[in-house]
Amino acid sequence: MCGIVGYTGFRLAVPVLLDALANLEYRGYDSAGIAVVECGKLKIFKKTGKINNLKELLKNKILSSSCGIGHTRWATHGVPEERNAHPHINDDCSFAIVHNGIIENYDLLKKKLNNQFFRSQTDTEVVAHLLNKQLLNKALTETNILKSLKLVCDDLKGSFAFAIVFNKFKDKIFVAKRSSPLIIGVGKNENFIASDIPAILKWTNKVIDLKDNEFGIISAQKVEIFDCNLKIKKFKIREENIKAEQIILNGFDCFMHKEIEQGAEAIQETANKVFNNTLLEQLVNKKQNINKIHICACGTALHAGLIAKFLIEKYCRKDVIIDFASEFRYKNPIINSNSLCLFISQSGETADTIAGLELAKSKGAFCIAITNVLGSRITQIADFVIPTFAGPEIAVASTKAYVAQISALLGFTKFLFKKEDIEIDYNLQDIYNICDWWKNTNFDEVILKVVKMIKDLDSVFFIGRSVDYYVAQEAALKLKEITYIHCEAFAGGELKHGSLALINDKSVVIVILTQSEILEKTLNAIHEIKSRGAKIVMFSQFLQLKDFADLFVRLPNKNQNLMPLVCAKPLQTLAYLTSKTKGFDPDKPRNLAKSVTVE
Ligand code: AGP
Repeated sequence: MCGIVGYTGFRLAVPVLLDALANLEYRGYDSAGIAVVECGKLKIFKKTGKINNLKELLKNKILSSSCGIGHTRWATHGVPEERNAHPHINDDCSFAIVHNGIIENYDLLKKKLNNQFFRSQTDTEVVAHLLNKQLLNKALTETNILKSLKLVCDDLKGSFAFAIVFNKFKDKIFVAKRSSPLIIGVGKNENFIASDIPAILKWTNKVIDLKDNEFGIISAQKVEIFDCNLKIKKFKIREENIKAEQIILNGFDCFMHKEIEQGAEAIQETANKVFNNTLLEQLVNKKQNINKIHICACGTALHAGLIAKFLIEKYCRKDVIIDFASEFRYKNPIINSNSLCLFISQSGETADTIAGLELAKSKGAFCIAITNVLGSRITQIADFVIPTFAGPEIAVASTKAYVAQISALLGFTKFLFKKEDIEIDYNLQDIYNICDWWKNTNFDEVILKVVKMIKDLDSVFFIGRSVDYYVAQEAALKLKEITYIHCEAFAGGELKHGSLALINDKSVVIVILTQSEILEKTLNAIHEIKSRGAKIVMFSQFLQLKDFADLFVRLPNKNQNLMPLVCAKPLQTLAYLTSKTKGFDPDKPRNLAKSVTVE
């Protein structure tokens, strides 16, 4: 969704805000803006497009302010035009507000402001005028601002992280949060606010996680946090163990390329921690009587869940019901206090996944969260958290977090598989073996040949059977989301039931074939495709199949259960190199944002 930042301290605010926004751009890049308090006045600057446009606008401006807020937008309400860019102001420009989230009842609230002139189409501007109305005829004190802000928030339905600056308070930022992420970065004679840690890592790794329905007043010397009744409350400061160099390109051409290469480290670090997590082992031992497991996630995180579904059903013989979170939350799922639910989310902030988690909790289920962001909302609600250790993932397309999720799920499944006499047939060493291979393998040469075959097509099809079908679904999502080519994954046996009609002599079908027990059957589908004149690109470790393909991408012969990890590197590389070849920015695909904190 959007990204918000704020700064108050001894530095010039504008360069800090611009730097912080640039590190949040993956959250949205339709437009950007800042508001700074300068000599008792608010100075507002906004530009459509990426942060660089805003930087260009500001490059010759001399602004001495040391307090301000900023915003980078992923448009929800209102087209990505300057008038809809944040910050938004009240009529007399005595305060400016930035917002991440969605106010669901903004239309109704807007009607209540019947004579109000609106500059924008946004829900956020409605909040600005509502706050202004609450403040009318009141002394502009911190207490009155907090009380008025609370009254406004009480009327709002939906999600918000607000940051507000007033022309009368030269070094204070007022914040409020519900469902959207907001952290406070604690520095020395300076403090920050941000939607996510990468924004402020350059200056501090000391963080306060603001919780839902809390408010705050942040100045250079002080942080005050208030509960939902505006009672001041104590807070904890935690140290993020993410290093600043983890959020810079470090010589790579884009974050996605860097993060594909970091996949081995993400797998190994996560496996190390999860396979040796005695608390998780004890927990899973207690849940042995459970015969049905629910998995709920979105996008790539769901595809990681599919790999777990395959392994749990194959080895533990337990039923796994897996749902897109956006479906789960409305299907009245059959869960109760005997249910075990896994919620997978890289950001830990995906609105649909959080809503699914809250629903499962309300039905008494035991909820485990698998996430890459400690302190994220999902970690504050789940009963148990299995962290992944992929490090900050900046590119919108998830790569290293996906393989880290699989790695964590391999550990979970291993604990779930309890047969006295036999072990599940993969272990940590097998995983380390794949990590070594990952670090020493470069697929660029053969993948560039595939890129040449597909880059100008309107559609690319993926097929696979069993777990290869799940891998094919993730490969299709990865390719489509950063190349804008229509991609679709089919179960290999399903083609002849309809989708084969799409295949012609211009088609390219990418076959994932890593499971020996379905090898013959997948060959049937290949014959069906070839007889329509289509080209076959095959990703497989079975060299005997090489001649069935127009292009064979050779995979190493690893433990079959771990082949989804192996497939990830070449298939992620295919998406990245196709996007680059087509001249797109693999990190910031159109219309998408890294963390979808709205429904
Ligand atoms: C993956 O490449 C996409 N960016 C998207 O599908 C993502 O996986 C999905 O939005 C879920 O995000 P989460 O893992 O942060 O919950």
